[in-house]
Amino acid sequence: MKVNGKDYRTVWMEGSSVFLIEQNLLPFKFEIFESKSYKQTCTAIKNMLVRGAGAIGSAAGFAMAQAFLEASEKGFWEFVEKAKKEIEATRPTAQNLFYATEQVYQKAKMSNDPAETAIQTAQSIADKDAEDSRKIGEFGNELIKDGYNILTHCNAGWLAFTDFGTALSPIYMAHKSEKNIFVYVDETRPRSQGARLTAWELKNEGIPHAIIPDNAAAHLMQQGKIDMVIVGADRIAANGDIANKIGTLEKAICASEYGIPFYVAAPTSTFDPDCKTGKEIPIEERNPDEVLYQTGLTKDGKVERVLVCSPDSEAFNPAFDVTPAKFITGIITEKGIISS
Ligand code: MRU
Repeated sequence: MKVNGKDYRTVWMEGSSVFLIEQNLLPFKFEIFESKSYKQTCTAIKNMLVRGAGAIGSAAGFAMAQAFLEASEKGFWEFVEKAKKEIEATRPTAQNLFYATEQVYQKAKMSNDPAETAIQTAQSIADKDAEDSRKIGEFGNELIKDGYNILTHCNAGWLAFTDFGTALSPIYMAHKSEKNIFVYVDETRPRSQGARLTAWELKNEGIPHAIIPDNAAAHLMQQGKIDMVIVGADRIAANGDIANKIGTLEKAICASEYGIPFYVAAPTSTFDPDCKTGKEIPIEERNPDEVLYQTGLTKDGKVERVLVCSPDSEAFNPAFDVTPAKFITGIITEKGIISS
């Protein structure tokens, strides 16, 4: 997607460096971070400098490629296998991360030139992620009617993938095909990926939208102001249950109550056949400080973090929830729409 007229991907590799859009600074500052080692890329994933299932997957694939480049001849495979474990320990929920590390490792293991194969495999994972997202946009666009008001949660736009995104990809296509649409964006506390990232993406594309408080969606649904919901997914279990950003479950229950179609957009790399149901999906618990503090822009242009809760209170911060398949109208994938 374009930023200030220039095409960007969320994450890419050049030589032995991985380049990432610094998402913690958005929408206030647009900066690129250069990660020079697999350990630095691990930290970038952990600290959510890069986040979102597909982007995490691509970053993890490139981190594996960096590990292959960094390994010396002696103890080559021990080094790589230790690095794989470290990369996989960065974030537990997004299936794309594990898909990418496994693919890169397995393909390199079968090759005479493991480092080169690792780079090529990581690159093709990133390319496929971008292409899958574009196809999701085409399939999803067929569901969007002219005049629709669409609700989305968190950020499943291009920043959450290598390019295009999932939940937002159909919205971009609908807008390009000149459908008149409006997007309600859940702010998505505690890290506000909706208010900060989705809103920034939509503004860049000139798509009419409004940020709403996290607790406003049921009210809008009751008033008939939402025609459909589209969200992303971080992992999809074999029975069709999905894990997505905390708060998704509430929106799905409300949509079901008011008879509003609830769609999940995700590539097949997000499906985990080893998880029989959503109960088996590991749910990440993050630092309580993410609830207690908020980051914003001061009047003199500094990005600053301030306490927004009762001092000395504790917080609990589950990052994802599981929406049972029964609340999901369909899953939009790069291969087509799976309807339930
Ligand atoms: O914790 P994050 O920001 O990595 O969360 C992942 C997400 O962005 C969402 O859950 C998203 O809606 C689906 S994954 C693109």
